[in-house]
Amino acid sequence: MRSRFAPVAVALAALLLVGCRQDMHDQAKYEPYEASELFADGAASRTPVEGTVARGMLHGDGRLYRGMEADGSFVDEIPLPVTSELVARGRERFEIYCSPCHGRTGDGQGMIVSRGFKQPESFHVDRLQQTQDGYFYDVISNGFGQMSSYASQVEPADRWAIVSYVRALQLSRRAPAQMLTADERQRLAAPAVPASGSSPESPTGAEGQHQ
Ligand code: HEC
Repeated sequence: MRSRFAPVAVALAALLLVGCRQDMHDQAKYEPYEASELFADGAASRTPVEGTVARGMLHGDGRLYRGMEADGSFVDEIPLPVTSELVARGRERFEIYCSPCHGRTGDGQGMIVSRGFKQPESFHVDRLQQTQDGYFYDVISNGFGQMSSYASQVEPADRWAIVSYVRALQLSRRAPAQMLTADERQRLAAPAVPASGSSPESPTGAEGQHQ
C-alpha cells in the first residue's frame, strides 16, 4: 500500500513547493516604510527615540562642525591646525568642487559660468577678504542662493581645508611686501624680461624668434 502511494505523495509535494518559490529579491524582511500589522500605527519602521544620534554623527563641536561659536556667530579662524598639507588638500578639493564655477583663482569665472550659470562674486572683493573663516565653511555646508550645499560631497575636515586654500588664494592677490623674503622682493621689483633667443625648452629657438 505504502509503496504505491509514495510516488504520488512526492509528486504532490513537488507541485506544492513550486507554488512556494521565493526569489532573492523578495526576502522575508520588512523594507523601509513597509506596512506591518504588528505595531499599532501599522508601520514596520519605528520612530527613533527623541534625541537619538546616529553613530558617528554626534558633531557636538559646533566650531568644527558648523563653523559657529555657541552664540551662533561665525568663527573667525579655522578651528584646525593650518598646515601645508591642509592647504594642499584644500587646493585639490577646491579644484574639484569649486573651480568649475568660482574659477581656479576664485575670480568667479569658472567654466560653468561661461556656459550661462550665475556668476558668483569674486573671492577677492573686500567683503569676502574680510569675512570670517566660518562664513565660507557655512556656505559650503548649507549652500548660498543659487549655489547648492556641498555637505554630502565634502566632509567637514575637507571643508576647512578648502577654506584654508581660499584664504591662500585671497592672500596671493594682496600679500603685504613685508611678508616676502628679500630675494622674493627683488624678483618682484625686477622688470619682466620678454623671452628671447633659444631656451632649453625650445631647442630650435624658433619660439623666441617669432616673439
Ligand atoms: C555650480 C556652481 C558652483 C559651485 C560648484 C560652487 N559654487 Fe559657490 N557660488 C556659486 C554661485 C552662483 C554663488 C552666488 C549665489 C547667489 O548669489 O545666488 C556662489 C556663492 C558662494 C559664496 C558666497 C559668496 C558671497 O557673495 O557671499 C561662497 C563663499 C562660495 N560660493 C564658495 C564656494 C566653495 C568653497 C565651493 C566649493 C566647495 C563652491 N562655492 C562651489 C556657484 C557655485
